[in-house]
Amino acid sequence: MSLIDSEIKQKIIDELNESNEITNSRQFAIKIGKEHEEVVAELNSLHAYEILLPEVIQEDIWEPTQEGQDYIEKGSPEVIFFNSIPQNGIALSELQKTLGPIAQIGFSQCMKLKWITTKKIEPSKEEIEKQQQQKKKAKVDQMIFQKVEKIEDKTKDLLLQLTKSTISSKDLQALKRRKLAQIVKIKYFKITKGATFERLITKKEKVHTDFNKEILSQELWKDAFFKKYNFNALGIYSSGHLHPLLKVRTQVREAFLELGFEEMDTSIWVESSFWNFDTLFQPQQHPARDMHDTFFMSKPEFSSDFPKEYMEKVKETHEKGGYESIGWRYDWDEQEAKKNIMRTHTTAISSRTLNSLIGQEFKPRRFFSIDRVFRNETLDATHLAEFHQVEGFIIDKNLSLGDLIGVITQFFQKLGMNKLKFKPAYNPYTEPSMEIFIYHDGLKRWIEVGNSGIFRPEMLRPMGFDEDVSVIAWGLSLERPTMIKYKVNNIRDLFGHKVDLQTIYSFPLCKITLEKFD
Ligand code: PHE
Repeated sequence: MSLIDSEIKQKIIDELNESNEITNSRQFAIKIGKEHEEVVAELNSLHAYEILLPEVIQEDIWEPTQEGQDYIEKGSPEVIFFNSIPQNGIALSELQKTLGPIAQIGFSQCMKLKWITTKKIEPSKEEIEKQQQQKKKAKVDQMIFQKVEKIEDKTKDLLLQLTKSTISSKDLQALKRRKLAQIVKIKYFKITKGATFERLITKKEKVHTDFNKEILSQELWKDAFFKKYNFNALGIYSSGHLHPLLKVRTQVREAFLELGFEEMDTSIWVESSFWNFDTLFQPQQHPARDMHDTFFMSKPEFSSDFPKEYMEKVKETHEKGGYESIGWRYDWDEQEAKKNIMRTHTTAISSRTLNSLIGQEFKPRRFFSIDRVFRNETLDATHLAEFHQVEGFIIDKNLSLGDLIGVITQFFQKLGMNKLKFKPAYNPYTEPSMEIFIYHDGLKRWIEVGNSGIFRPEMLRPMGFDEDVSVIAWGLSLERPTMIKYKVNNIRDLFGHKVDLQTIYSFPLCKITLEKFD
C-alpha cells in the first residue's frame, strides 16, 4: 500500500517539496481546484503518519450576507431600479408595483448616487376630494427620470471582491451598514513538513502496520517504521450473538430464581482437593481422585489456609466416622487434601456455601449455580474435558426423599420437562442417591439428565449442622439439554474451538420443551 494514494495527497507532497510549507490550506484547495474538506481529509490521513505538521489558524473574514449573495446573483437594487426607468420617465408608484420591496432601496440608493431626477406629480382634483373624504393626507407621487447615461454596479463588484483583500475599509463599512457583508470566523491550516517526511516521503521507507515472522525473526522491528495505533478509530460494527449454552443457562437460571433459589459464587475454578472431595466425604483412594479423572495443578501445587478445626473433624470422620458412621477407616493425609485441582464438580461450591452458613441463624435456604467444571476425560462426541454443571440444593429441617423428588419434578416442569423417572444410584456424599431420567419423545427413550441425593451426615455434621438439618441436592450438565434442544449431535459443534460461528448466529431462541421435540 502506498502512502500517497490520491491526487490530492500527491499535490500536497509536491507543494511541500517545492515550497516547504502550505501557508493556507483554504487557498491551497482553491489553487488545486478542490473543496477544502477534501483537502483536510487528506491532510489528516498524512498527519496520522506524522508526515506533516498542521497548525490551526483562525481568522475573521468578510462574507456576503444572504442579501449580499442575492445582489451578486441578480444585481444590486439600485441598478435594477435604474434599468427599469424608460426614456420618458415613469411614476415611482408604477415601479413600486413592478419591482416590489427592492424599489424603495433602489430609489434611495439611486438618489444618493445622483443617477436619477424626480418631478412631483400634482394629484388631480377628484383624487384630492377622494382622499379628503377618507380623511387621509393626499399622497404625492413623483415621476422618475434617468439622469446619467452610464452606470456601474459598484455594490455588486465590491461584494464580489469581498473575500479578497483589495477592498478598502470604507467600502467594507458601507456594505456592512447595508447589511450586505458580515464577519465570519474560519479555520484553516498552515502545513509544514512533519517528523517522518524525510523517512517516509524522501527515502520512501516502508510503513509496517503489523508484526510478521520476518520482522520478528530478523529483528527488523528495531529500525522498522510502525504506524501508530489510532485508539480513537471506531471498530467495524458487528452485533454479538448469544451462544446457545448461554440461552439455555438464562432459562435455567430463571427457573431457579422463580423457585426462590439464591445464586452461589462460582468464581473458584482452581479448587483444593479438600473442598472438592474431602469435605464431601469422598475417600482419598477414590478413583475420581486419580490423575486419569482429574486435572491436578503443578503451579501452585498445593493450597493452604484451611479452617483448622473443621479440617480436623473431616479427618476424623474419614478415619473413624462418627454420627452413627464407621468412617472409611484409613489414614487421612492432609497433604493429599491440599493438592490443587481444576474443580471436577460445582458440589465443591455447595460444600463451601454450606460451611459458610455455620454461625448464622438457621433458616431454610435454597441455592443454585451454573458454571464450568473440568474432568480429565477421553474426548468423544459426547464428552469434553470441560463442561457446565447446573447445581441446586435446599437446606431445611427433616427433608425427605419425597421432598427431593418433589422439588426436582417442579424444577424440570419449569423447564418444560414433565416425564421424569428416578433410579437408585450411588454417590459418596449422598444417601440415598438417585439418577434422574427424562423421557425424550423425539428419541423415544429415557435419557439420563442428572444425579441427586440427600447429603450424608458425614458431610454435614463435621461442619457443625444439627442432626435434624438435612440438605437435598442435585446436579446436571448444561450441555445435555442444550444438545437435545438444538439437535446438536457432537458436543464439539457446541463448545470449543471447532464451533462454527455461523451456527451460533442462527440458533433460535431457547424454550426448552423436550416433550415437544420434533
Ligand atoms: N456432583 C454430582 C456430579 O458431578 C452431581 C450431584 C450434585 C449429585 C449434588 C448429588 C448431589 O455428577
